Parts: sequence; C-alpha cells; structure tokens
Amino acid sequence: MAEFVNIALPKGRLGEKVYSMFEAAGYPCPSIKENNRKLIYENPEVGVRYFWVKPSDVSIYVERGAADIGVAGKDILLEYSPDVYELLDLKTGVCRMMVAAMEDYRSDPDKTLRVATKFPNIARNYYDRQRREIDIITLNGSIELAPILGLSDVIVDIVETGKTLYENHLAPFEKVVDISARLIANKASFKFKNEAIENIYSSLAKIVE
Ligand code: PRP
Repeated sequence: MAEFVNIALPKGRLGEKVYSMFEAAGYPCPSIKENNRKLIYENPEVGVRYFWVKPSDVSIYVERGAADIGVAGKDILLEYSPDVYELLDLKTGVCRMMVAAMEDYRSDPDKTLRVATKFPNIARNYYDRQRREIDIITLNGSIELAPILGLSDVIVDIVETGKTLYENHLAPFEKVVDISARLIANKASFKFKNEAIENIYSSLAKIVE
C-alpha cells in the first residue's frame, strides 16, 4: 500500500456528516465510531488517515501540508483565503452568511455602522463593496448578543435554521453569501499524491450527485 492520504475533518456535527460521506464513498475507518477521545484514526486498507480538528483550523492544516486534504466551510475559506485548491462543493453544512439586527432596527446611512462578527474580512469586503463605513467588532461566539446589548447595530453571522435569530428577537436583513462544506487540497499533495486524491475526489463527487 502506498502512502496514506491525511484528511482533516471538522470536529462536531458537520464532521460527522462529512465522515459518513467519506465512508459511503469507500473510505471507511470503523475505529472512528468507537467514540473515544482519540484525534487520529487510520485505515491502512484504503490508505486514509483522518484527524479531527477545530473547524476553523482545517484550512491551516491543509495549507501547511499537515493534512493533504480536508473539509472546510466556505465561510472559513472566504475569511482566511488559504492558499489551497478548492476541489468540490460537498453540498452539506448548507447555510447562509447574513446581516441581521434587532427586528425593529432601522439603519441610518449617515452613521458609521457598528458590525459584530466572527468574520471580519467577509464583513469588511461586503461593506466595502457598498461603500458603507463600518466599525468592526470581532467576537468569537454568541454574536447575537451584541445588538441585544447595544454593542453593535448589526451582526454578520451564519444562519442555518434561523432559530437563534428568532428566539432572540433578531431578524435577517441581507444575505452576504451562501455557505456549504468544501473539499480542499494542499497544492503540493495534489501533485504528489494525485492519483489517491483524485480517487477520493471522484468517489465523493458521485455521492454528492
Ligand atoms: C452558529 C451561528 C449562529 C447559529 C445559527 O453558531 O453563529 O449563532 O449557529 O444557527 P441557527 O440559524 O440554526 O439558529 P455556533 O453554533 O457555531 O456557535 P457560536 O457562533 O455561538 O460559537
């Protein structure tokens, strides 16, 4: 058996869905379901080694070649612009990046807009295109609290079901971009492990169809 293909998967709910796709594509790793706290699992028979990493770190592992391929949300790819190949839209983890605010919020175009977000680059690009002056407040989670407490006017955040917004009396105002999970590859690995990566890619592409 040739070398392993090292695969960075995003820890959590999305990762479990994505792992099932790899499994269905012919790259199972039964020990991954043992539910212990191990972070690395390998199946020498099909030549894959999976790592669980924090979703926002997948692109770092892949860009630097610690992983040959991985699965990252389009949000992470837009935010960090890693130097990787984006091979495939896996059409899972589908959600939207939205501008949201309190239900009764009315924007005042003469005032600098205070924007709370985990995605400062995406937010800056979006408002630059509109030539809107903004003040970015970068937070790491629970973004919905910011407008409730008057820390910001709006948020730029991921909306999946809309439940978090609804339950906090916030409303979505504008869509920034559609998001879904993407298969990405390290550029050097794509060259040197091309056959193995192409095989994984085409098996996954069939599942997506
Ligand atoms: C994401 C996002 C929203 C929520 C949206 O948060 O930031 O808070 O999910 O999902 P919904 O539309 O289905 O309610 P996440 O769970 O990643 O937590 P955090 O941003 O607060 O860390």
